[in-house]
Amino acid sequence: MARFIDELKRTHRCGELRDNHIEDEVVLFGWVQNRRDHGGCIFIDLRDRTGLVQVVFDPSEDQTSFELADAARPEWVLGIRGKVRDRGEMRNDRMDTGAIEVVAIEATVFNKSKTPPFEIEDDIDTGEDKRLEYRYLDLRRPVVQKSILARSRLMGAVRTHFHGEDFVEVETPFMLKYTPGGARNFLVPARLHPGSFYALAESPQLFKQLLMVAGYDRYFQIVKCFRDEDPRIDRQPEFTQIDVEMSFVSEDDIFGTIERMLMRCFEDVAGIDLKEKYPDGFPRMTFEESMRRFGNDKPDMRFGLEHIDLTELVCEHEGCGISFFGGIANKFNSGEYRKDLPEEIVKALVIPASANMSRADGDKLEKYVKSMGAGGLARAKVGEDGAWTQSPLTKMVTDEARLAINAACDAKPGDILCFQFGPTDRVHTVMANLRVHIAKKLGLIPDSGSSGDWNLLWIVDPPLFERGEDGKGWVAAHHPFTRPHDECLSLLETDPGKVLCHRYDVVLNGFEIGGGSIRLHDPEVQSRVFKAIDISDQEASEKFGFLLEALQHGAPPHGGIAMGLDRLAMLLTEGETIRDVIAFPKNQKGNDVMTGAPAPVDAEQLAELHVATLK
Ligand code: AMO
Repeated sequence: MARFIDELKRTHRCGELRDNHIEDEVVLFGWVQNRRDHGGCIFIDLRDRTGLVQVVFDPSEDQTSFELADAARPEWVLGIRGKVRDRGEMRNDRMDTGAIEVVAIEATVFNKSKTPPFEIEDDIDTGEDKRLEYRYLDLRRPVVQKSILARSRLMGAVRTHFHGEDFVEVETPFMLKYTPGGARNFLVPARLHPGSFYALAESPQLFKQLLMVAGYDRYFQIVKCFRDEDPRIDRQPEFTQIDVEMSFVSEDDIFGTIERMLMRCFEDVAGIDLKEKYPDGFPRMTFEESMRRFGNDKPDMRFGLEHIDLTELVCEHEGCGISFFGGIANKFNSGEYRKDLPEEIVKALVIPASANMSRADGDKLEKYVKSMGAGGLARAKVGEDGAWTQSPLTKMVTDEARLAINAACDAKPGDILCFQFGPTDRVHTVMANLRVHIAKKLGLIPDSGSSGDWNLLWIVDPPLFERGEDGKGWVAAHHPFTRPHDECLSLLETDPGKVLCHRYDVVLNGFEIGGGSIRLHDPEVQSRVFKAIDISDQEASEKFGFLLEALQHGAPPHGGIAMGLDRLAMLLTEGETIRDVIAFPKNQKGNDVMTGAPAPVDAEQLAELHVATLK
């Protein structure tokens, strides 16, 4: 073994060898993928992260190596010195190295291996928790390795982009003071300060703004963030952001920077050129339009099935079927309902006749929407003459209203109209999910991939505030340091719900991959924003004192964005979940099943930290 490390240096990686290496003597190190005894000779496919190569152990070449190969088992770690030879007619075109093989002259076993709990192959049906328990073996599988290597290229592309555009890479602290609002923080007890806690950073937001005050002008960082949220397919409790902040910029400058970055990432990671598709940058859509057409602010634009807002129509057709449309028209007519600020809406979605949806399929859809808290899924099939069939709605809705709804929905015979009505948020959530659900069922979502459909867009101009949890009062929809549109400033006191702001999200194929804003740097407007959300000067100073103080020391106009690196990597590699592109992710319950985190600690350690736990 010592000779292989001390005297023989590795000459090639396994997957690199091609027919131009024929006759070369090579030294390879790798893992046994499989071993085949072909009567007289033993064949081992040797694997490293570049791929596989076939090694032949022929007793007439070297008896010792042959015996070693005879004993070898999958996942043993071997060193081999050998000669590359042409496989001639035996070439295997399915392997990158299939034109050649290596005839072993000398070999060593660096280490043996236990039998792995699953095959080191792409297609296995082992459960995810088992794979995560042995993640170091899972990471050997080519499909996983491909994602991790793509992620590495992604990080390289990001750094090259920002350094090339004169950004400064600065690290900011993870252990912060807890401030309420935003995502739920993980807390770390401070041993030296009994009863006090650090909060793990949910993002470097405040620090990157301070870097602008400090004059660094253009900052970026690839940074870990921590949020105590329930994991989802696109969410992890610890994840990575590409965090950016810039001074003296408009939204357009930030969009341009991110568009160039994303184009480079697509090119370097997946070999996809987006310049032709987006010669003038990504399209932009207002938040209002996105909500109206798709029910959320991250629309997947690769397919239609747009929502149709019927609220006004229903309100205008008094008695059109009041019992069915939830009394919205009643409220409208009694003046209870504010048209400019609809708190309840009616929306429709048309399932095309070509989907051939059966009644049973409709019942399944109803079950699906009920699982999201909807009361049901009112629906009707459109007949040849525009009549509605197969539905209790037939009797409830007046002919006039039915025809108006058909026209608004551009309904064709055989189409199925699905309706939702009720509180705006719920209708939007249900209908947005339903839209994607139906598109998946109908196979309307094209594959991505190198020639596939990549759909990027900016969602802009959302409201600055949203209703608080109690449905009354206002809270900052993102954070209170977002700059309102100048023309909305007068509404801060009179109609806060209508104040739009300079916030933006970037969406890729229905996933929010980034978001940011132009920040408020004017103390006078800042104070009016705090008033609108009922934060007193004292409370503001307690929560954000250091930032407010800093903003009064010559803060330049500034703005920024953070991109979700894991989400971007997941989409670029066509992963099914965010876990596929994280080397050591938490599982769906937030556990690290390999190391056993999180885990209880003993009473002594808790005492040292001045922490007691509740049973
Ligand atoms: P935001 O909270 O929108 O903005 O986060 C920015 C992006 O980070 C990604 N992301 C996540 N990815 C994986 N798991 C999570 N739990 C998770 N949470 C967020 C998303 C999201 O678009 N400081 C602001 C940015 C700014 O204003 O500059 C911020 O953190 O892709």
